[in-house]
Amino acid sequence: MKSSIILLGYMGCGKTKIGRKLSKKIGIKFYDLDQEIELFYSKSIKQIFDEIGEMKFRELEQKILIKILNKNEFYILSLGGGTPCYFNNMELISNKTKNTFYLNLDSKVLANRLFSRKTKRPLISSIANEKEMLSFVNKHLFERNHFYNKASYIIKSSKKDVSKTCDSILTILEDNSF
Ligand code: S3P
Repeated sequence: MKSSIILLGYMGCGKTKIGRKLSKKIGIKFYDLDQEIELFYSKSIKQIFDEIGEMKFRELEQKILIKILNKNEFYILSLGGGTPCYFNNMELISNKTKNTFYLNLDSKVLANRLFSRKTKRPLISSIANEKEMLSFVNKHLFERNHFYNKASYIIKSSKKDVSKTCDSILTILEDNSF
């Protein structure tokens, strides 16, 4: 193991699930940035958004990101969907490790998945129907892909293949003797 592994991508793309699975397979520690923020501030992401608004949330998010990046250990880190798109976060991430993976899912799959899991996610919680969700996701991805595409590797995956996605990542890591 030469460096840490960082997973990024849009809300609902499976960063946490895949990170957890990879961590079990490789046997290294797993961090989920959203969970670390919630633990540090003893508040849910929704509460933080409600109390201080998105821009202040982004500042807290960067603070916890830097705390994790500075850890003197190897780990797998799943970011929040917006993390790579604010401040110089993507630069900080890329300076830390070349093992950065963008989990790229079709917007229709994302919109469908997110509609049933929107309550905890303040940016999408008030979206009324799946059609509206799809147009929101498409527009948002158009803005965010520029940042996501700075990851070293882009893993295209479909709905149910958490295992396949993990295998693709592991193959890349092994080929590069990470
Ligand atoms: C956000 C994604 C969320 C969380 C917050 C904002 C975003 O994380 O950080 O609700 O801006 O895309 P997940 O991608 O884990 O849902």
